Amino acid sequence: KTINVILSGGVGSRLWPLSRKSQPKQYLPIFEGETLFQHTISRNKAFCEQVMVVGNCDNYKLSRKDLANSNISGYMEVIEACPRNTAAAIAFAAIAAQPEDILFVTPSDHLIKSGQKYQQAVARAIELAKEGAIVTFGLKPTRPETGFGYIEAEGEKVKGFREKPNLETAEAFLKSGNFFWNSGMFCFKAGVYLEELMTFEPEVYNASKIAFENAKEGKLDFDLSMKIPSISVDYAVMEKTDKIKMVPSEFAWSDMGSFESIYDHFKKQGHPVDAKGNMVIGTTLHTEFLGLKNTLLIQTPDAILVLKKDNAQDVKKVYERLEREK
Ligand code: GDD
Ligand code: MG
Repeated sequence: KTINVILSGGVGSRLWPLSRKSQPKQYLPIFEGETLFQHTISRNKAFCEQVMVVGNCDNYKLSRKDLANSNISGYMEVIEACPRNTAAAIAFAAIAAQPEDILFVTPSDHLIKSGQKYQQAVARAIELAKEGAIVTFGLKPTRPETGFGYIEAEGEKVKGFREKPNLETAEAFLKSGNFFWNSGMFCFKAGVYLEELMTFEPEVYNASKIAFENAKEGKLDFDLSMKIPSISVDYAVMEKTDKIKMVPSEFAWSDMGSFESIYDHFKKQGHPVDAKGNMVIGTTLHTEFLGLKNTLLIQTPDAILVLKKDNAQDVKKVYERLEREK
């Protein structure tokens, strides 16, 4: 069977104060009145017989709430004691599944247009996964983004995978024309993933297995989890495996990772922006911007953030400082 494994571990610190540990961005009902988590479920319902959410003890109730309104059957969950990154999160799902099950692994915080292009790409990925491939989705890059992984490919054949290159390298990749952005979604047989993980990162494999097998009442053990090396699936498996394939993809895709992408999306949706490109989110109070351009004002019941759009990546630093000062 095919299982949609939804990774829901991130805090979304670059979207503070909208996004919090208690209310991460994937559970904010600000995308046509639905959450990104709900969009993810409905987008993938047609391909998958089952949904498995890998989340954590702070957010599993939010996932359950969203799922209750989503009308799906066959729900499974893995509740992490602490985030140990995506190589381990996917390992838990793969261990919980049967080796022959196809895992369609997706983040919970992306905005994707679920049209024909998306459906064709996913259908092809499932086909390749059935043949034993580790499948990625490649999108045409439009800027030298350093927060993404890059796939060098010719058609479905992959020559190399490089996670989060520096700016110079990203610029060279963009110029060359044979490089694609890794979408962050993957498709493979559970057993194939575990074999590759065992080969390249045996410590992650072994420690994840022990933590999973000693889970109590569905929750993983904290101390055993802390023994798992924290590494993302991109470094742990994608950069190393020769089973990797890529489905060239053209669906509209956006990693709602920062206020820059939120701004672009809201603007497209017709959210008010003044003549100088200033935007207000979260308040209906009358707001004026003087001498400012491309500025965002974000208000929540307990916090206000004012930032220049260019500083969108620095919001994470504010979040981290506030966490330290707690
Ligand atoms: N359950 C769980 N546990 N989920 C996690 C954990 C964890 O410890 N860590 C991260 N996640 C979830 C995040 O919530 C997100 O949905 C997804 O896994 C990917 O993690 P990110 O931290 O957002 O990764 P990234 O954005 O830096 O990079 C990945 O996505 C890019 C596209 O958005 C990589 O796959 C890149 O190669 C890719 O280009
Ligand atoms: Mg991300």
